[in-house]
Amino acid sequence: MTEGQTLRIHRSNSPDTLFRGFKIATMLESSELENAQPDLPCALNPTNYGTIEKGTLAVTDGVIDWIVPESETPQVPADVEIIEGAGKWLTPGLIDCHTHLVYGGDRASEWEARLGGQSYQAIAKAGGGILSSVRATRAASEDELVESATKRLMYLLSEGVTTIEIKSGYGLDLENEIKMLRAANRVGAENRVDVFSTLLSAHAVPPEFAQRPDDYVTLICEEIIPTAKDECHAVDAFCESIAFSVEQTKRVLMTGKDCGLSIKVHAEQLTHTGIAAEVAKMGGLSADHLEFLTAADCAVLAEHGTVATLLPGAFFCLQETQKPPLEALRNHHVPIAIATDCNPGSSPVVSILTIGNMACNLFGMTPEETLKGMTRNAALALGLNDRGVIKPGAIADFAVWDVASPGEIFYQIGANPCVDVFKNGKRSRSWVAHEQR
Ligand code: NIG
Ligand code: FE
Repeated sequence: MTEGQTLRIHRSNSPDTLFRGFKIATMLESSELENAQPDLPCALNPTNYGTIEKGTLAVTDGVIDWIVPESETPQVPADVEIIEGAGKWLTPGLIDCHTHLVYGGDRASEWEARLGGQSYQAIAKAGGGILSSVRATRAASEDELVESATKRLMYLLSEGVTTIEIKSGYGLDLENEIKMLRAANRVGAENRVDVFSTLLSAHAVPPEFAQRPDDYVTLICEEIIPTAKDECHAVDAFCESIAFSVEQTKRVLMTGKDCGLSIKVHAEQLTHTGIAAEVAKMGGLSADHLEFLTAADCAVLAEHGTVATLLPGAFFCLQETQKPPLEALRNHHVPIAIATDCNPGSSPVVSILTIGNMACNLFGMTPEETLKGMTRNAALALGLNDRGVIKPGAIADFAVWDVASPGEIFYQIGANPCVDVFKNGKRSRSWVAHEQR
């Protein structure tokens, strides 16, 4: 909320759409709501989730224009569309801030091998894992990648997702990394969702550079990033013994930063390398995974405003036992985001609501922290300050839920209480995914 801004601004008495009779989970802090409404201390009801009971919200040109208690709804012209909430909950549209949605093939047989006792690391070292998806992705056309990613996207959209981050990282050469980014951007252009695309060429060392990882890093820095920079918003890297060293990761991310891109990192997932704190010092938007993050690292993330993105799907599917240090993250007030990490290997998960349940049941997050992690903090993890909360000036991306309280959104596994989705103020609910189920 910017200085002096209030929830009561009446920019237009003739908005495009009124949302009336909703319970609105703004995801603002109580103090932000109170500051926003100094003249009406009792009219809004700042409880958990920044709740406004029975609110009316006006949207003009795809942006939230004003919000008032329902009893104060002004007269509007007859041609203004009115959406009736009838007591349903309205939240910001969900933001899935870490996915590998675009890929060729699948890794079901590798999953069976893991169930038979092989480890993720052993499979990767034997040329499977990420490299198996690289072979399938290189063999796929851009159209085929768009088609398969769109099928996965439909599940996410049906659960209230309105913004999604999509990484490359299964191409691992200039041509195929660009193909992946173009496919990701097309998924956004062809559907009612905003795509934030991220270059993850430093995901694995491709076979043609098998014993020469530094030469591959040089290719990334000298050719791939400079050529791909207009197709993406950020650069990411996987820092791990089975992927890239701290020095190699820093070299890639520094090049991305010098090219004007945001930076993110897959960090401290299987071992502690110290890269999360290093990337925070470089101004990274987020460090992701973080099972092996230390309390000292948390202090560095907090100091630099770097978001900790937790990925319970990978933790669950790899049957990890080391949990991210939630108490230390809380104590240091590090913003926590939660995402699906949808990918063919470590997290073949297309349900963000199931991921929300895992964040609570596996990591001990509260439902409110989880919803914040998929809205407000997920927006921070993408460097987007125009979404993730309900306030005047924010993009009118909403999910509507048939629940008695927002905590119920993640309560049942396998249910989908999302009954409506609005993207830029326009209804965009995707029913296709339900037919697929
Ligand atoms: O975020 N950690 C590395 N990358 C992905 C896994 C990719 C894969 O296994 O295909 C992740 O979990
Ligand atoms: Fe990932």
